[in-house]
Amino acid sequence: MCGIVGYTGLGLAAGQPATAETTPVPSGHPLEVALEGLRRLEYRGYDSAGVALVGPGRDDVAFAKKSGKLGNLVGEIEAHPMPQATAAIGHTRWATHGGPTDVNAHPHLADGDRLAVIHNGIIENFAQLKKELLAEGVFFRSETDTEVAAQLLAREYRRAGDLTEAMAATARRLEGTFTLLAVHADDPLKVVGARHDSPLVVGLGEGENFLGSDVAAFIAFTKEALELGQDQIVTITPTSVDVVDFRNKPAEAKRFTVDWDAAAAEKSGFESFMDKEIHDQPHAVADTLLGRTDVDGRLTLDEIRIDEAVLRAVDKIIVIACGTAAYAGHVAKYAIEHWCRIPVEVELAHEFRYRDPILNEKTLVVAISQSGETMDTLMAVRHAREQGAKVLSIVNTQGSTIPRESDAVLYTHAGPEIAVASTKAFLSQITAAYLLGLYLAQLRGNKFADEVAYLLGELRDVPAKIQTVIERGEYVRATARSMQDATSVLFLGRHVGYPVALEGALKLKELAYIHAEGFAAGELKHGPIALIDEGQPVFVVVPSPRGRDSLHSKVVSNIQEIRARGARTLVIAEDGDDEVRRYADEIFWIPQVPTLIQPLLAVVPLQIFAMSLATAKGLDVDQPRNLAKSVTVE
Ligand code: M6R
Repeated sequence: MCGIVGYTGLGLAAGQPATAETTPVPSGHPLEVALEGLRRLEYRGYDSAGVALVGPGRDDVAFAKKSGKLGNLVGEIEAHPMPQATAAIGHTRWATHGGPTDVNAHPHLADGDRLAVIHNGIIENFAQLKKELLAEGVFFRSETDTEVAAQLLAREYRRAGDLTEAMAATARRLEGTFTLLAVHADDPLKVVGARHDSPLVVGLGEGENFLGSDVAAFIAFTKEALELGQDQIVTITPTSVDVVDFRNKPAEAKRFTVDWDAAAAEKSGFESFMDKEIHDQPHAVADTLLGRTDVDGRLTLDEIRIDEAVLRAVDKIIVIACGTAAYAGHVAKYAIEHWCRIPVEVELAHEFRYRDPILNEKTLVVAISQSGETMDTLMAVRHAREQGAKVLSIVNTQGSTIPRESDAVLYTHAGPEIAVASTKAFLSQITAAYLLGLYLAQLRGNKFADEVAYLLGELRDVPAKIQTVIERGEYVRATARSMQDATSVLFLGRHVGYPVALEGALKLKELAYIHAEGFAAGELKHGPIALIDEGQPVFVVVPSPRGRDSLHSKVVSNIQEIRARGARTLVIAEDGDDEVRRYADEIFWIPQVPTLIQPLLAVVPLQIFAMSLATAKGLDVDQPRNLAKSVTVE
């Protein structure tokens, strides 16, 4: 979804020497900061981009905007250079109201081009507000809801003469979800932002300050940040940050230090972010496990600030999430039920909220989200808390909204995930959910401390084994390259292999735009087997032969059934599984691990397969069509 950047500094052009009157600006020219921020937010998904600048001595806003990728905007700026400035706002737009054209791109201008606004979200009452403004003779250039907000802000500014106050008055009139950023030529050192159900974080600098949809926008410049609360307005100048609520009353924001490394958001020599993030997975799992035990080796999850008595009394867990995060929750269900003997339901967040779920103070809701901003998941979190349930979130992005609105948060430490298709987030979410399961098992006496320590030891062995799977990736890549013309691929799994099959299918749909379906292998004979005919490729995730006997043999039987009907079988199996070898057309070996840990390895060849097939088709694996990294609207 849309990416938002705001910057204010003392406005030296890059390379310009500082004088006695000015302080050097460490981050350089505001335009460059805005473009760098937009580059770092590209991963969110967008179809047009724009910037607006204000500076002393100018009586209007300078702006540039272009449909398409950031390169188009940069080309436009190179063709028509922009003036020196002291503050900038930048935007990448994911079209909702009005197509992805130059005119509809942000910023939107008002007040005789002296005011510029950018926006993320959807203003639901825009038609009614537009009617009101049209009746006052306001002229609109675009079809967007954002321009309505810009014109409304201009009207309020004319009344109040102060941008912060005008923003508060505007925010009170808007319905829907929004982050708005505005600059005005009258006040060239100021950027004002407002947020309602849409993300906005503040980056704190020296002689400069930043705003961003997420911390990625400014981590190249500062790690110090402020987490804004709901319905707050922030006004930044180079030397101040003021936060108020929509009534213009002073409000609190929480300071934090970003623990992501800016270099982690670079490709570091890989062809794509996705390839890099697949290679990051051993670290993502290891870092998520790091520092979670005390000196006696006992699992401690200090972040879980929910009363132990409440956790002991929990009689049901509901996992809410979307997409890949929901599949991570689905994997965790098998482990948590096995270890803790607590029933676990896994529900897509958007379904949960509208189905009148039964929950109470004994229900623990676990919300899983990489971005911490997925609107469907956020709304489900709110709904769960309104019903009296405790909410624990498993989130990767600091400063995001879901942790702020949860009773407790367990952070994954996957680092920034830039590719739209989730890879390392999936593995670290499973790891964090397993930590939660073991913690509850320890707390509730379902497992002895030595059993928990043993299982933790097995988890700690996983990163090296993921590395082995990655190193064996060339055979998967070659197989994928040979399957460029496939039009449909099926994925089968059983037990924890089932959500792995679902995730494998999702990766292929997202990246290679190929019809792909994941099924529980046991469901095959209840319908999906009708899809099998000569040459139909079917991936099968085979459980460990050392696990529950019946599981392995049943999946091997399923492979025989589909093979007998002409399927081409692509099998993921553990080293040494001689029985399955003879039924596989292609076999991708993974190291031996206990049954519950297998998903952390088995999914990796499926990620590599989807990425390699998409790459062979010449597709952009980091930014697949129609998708946004962070889905901040329902
Ligand atoms: O940020 P979240 O984990 O809440 O995102 C949830 C889904 O939108 C996300 O996992 C999506 O399905 C990915 N594109 C999967 O690769």
